[in-house]
Amino acid sequence: MADTLTVTDNRTGKTYELAINDGTVKAIDLRDIKVDEEDFGLMVYDPAFKNTAACRSSITLIDGDKGILRYRGYPIEQLAEQSTFLEVAYLLLWGELPSKSELDSWVNEVTHHTYVHQYVLRGMEGFKWDAHAMGKVVSMLGTLSTFYGDSKKVRDPKVRREHIVKIIAKMPTIAAWCYRHMLGRPYIYPDNELSYAGNFMNMLFRMAEPRYKPDPIIERALDVLFILHADHEQNCSASAARAVGSAETDPYCSLAAASAALYGPLHGGANEAVLRMLREIGSVSEIPAFIEGVKKRERRLMGFGHRVYKNYDPRARIIKGLAHQVFEVTGKNPLLDIALELEKIALDDDFFVSRKLYPNVDFYSGLIYQSIGFPVEFFPVLFAIPRAAGWLAQWKEMLEDPEQKIARPRQIYTGYDERPYVPVDER
Ligand code: ACO
Repeated sequence: MADTLTVTDNRTGKTYELAINDGTVKAIDLRDIKVDEEDFGLMVYDPAFKNTAACRSSITLIDGDKGILRYRGYPIEQLAEQSTFLEVAYLLLWGELPSKSELDSWVNEVTHHTYVHQYVLRGMEGFKWDAHAMGKVVSMLGTLSTFYGDSKKVRDPKVRREHIVKIIAKMPTIAAWCYRHMLGRPYIYPDNELSYAGNFMNMLFRMAEPRYKPDPIIERALDVLFILHADHEQNCSASAARAVGSAETDPYCSLAAASAALYGPLHGGANEAVLRMLREIGSVSEIPAFIEGVKKRERRLMGFGHRVYKNYDPRARIIKGLAHQVFEVTGKNPLLDIALELEKIALDDDFFVSRKLYPNVDFYSGLIYQSIGFPVEFFPVLFAIPRAAGWLAQWKEMLEDPEQKIARPRQIYTGYDERPYVPVDER
């Protein structure tokens, strides 16, 4: 028997049969359900898209109940263990792991597009020294769009590829320049002899030394963090990239929109919020009072909970292990004890257990970033660099999907019916 859903409209007594494919019914099929010919037809109401599939995607799979995350079928644990960020970016974008020669030429291509036009720096100079780094990233992406007018040809796969490479290559340069600007330090240019993460560290941290040598443990830790953050299917920022990109906006501006979404404290700003929260708690003895405040809904336990994961976030588990490796080099972060105790208490408390609230990717990543020496306001930027690969993969898939059109939700209008305008002196 075919997979169908039989619906009876009790307003009219009429029965409709809707096709079920891949566990979904098409919202547009509901439009046939009408009380009369004048009726617009039934819609679904789904604020925050909690139960709406907005696309078909073959990029990333999350099974929130089982705590599974896979890119193109490959488990995140295996990629974090054995792959590199640039290989993962290739996988996300082009669908398969590259052969050795494909990987070499991809790495070479990205490495040779890391320089950013000098005039972009002038834009950077316009910011106040204490401007939030994410605001600068959003603006810099918008600025880059003005340098690459041909990127508007989003329907041309060759043009798309060219600008995908440019964005992946230039994200660390822009990010590092935002950082140096924040500290008032001179900008450092890319070193093509270094890896993606190693070069990023060079542009961030090099001072008077003629050649920067990244610490291999920190370099690998950053690369693994990049892998873990590279994509996460239809999250708020990926949806922003898709929605803005669906208007055939160029990829730089589409990613500026995605970065703006990532900036929010409920999304990519959460790792910053976690650090501030741990600092505010201050000591292990203050945790019970803090937890009480959360249960009374005066606070949120930042870094806990996820719209999709209703089990331990698999990225959080990897990051927790990574934190210990980084602390071997940097020394233990004093906030770690508070984080570990907070996690222990929360995982034992019915308030969190019954709501399936577990640590997410941001709970421990902030501790690593802080130990490496990053200021908290830079954390979302460290998230945006690798996520650019995911945003681009989602944007490209959206453009290549014949079912997609400009994103345009419907509304339930709750305002006034028609009423006549009243001149100001008669109100
Ligand atoms: N602390 C305390 N209570 C929480 C938390 C939290 N972190 N998260 C959810 N809850 C509670 C809610 O109050 C709600 O309780 P109720 O049913 O009694 O009203 C219940 O758990 C369900 O929460 P929702 O807000 O409905 O869950 P939603 O899926 O909308 O939100 C979100 C998910 C935004 C991530 C939320 O858990 C949150 O705010 N977490 C803290 C911020 C954070 O860490 N964000 C990073 C997410 S990962 C990422 O974007 C990279």
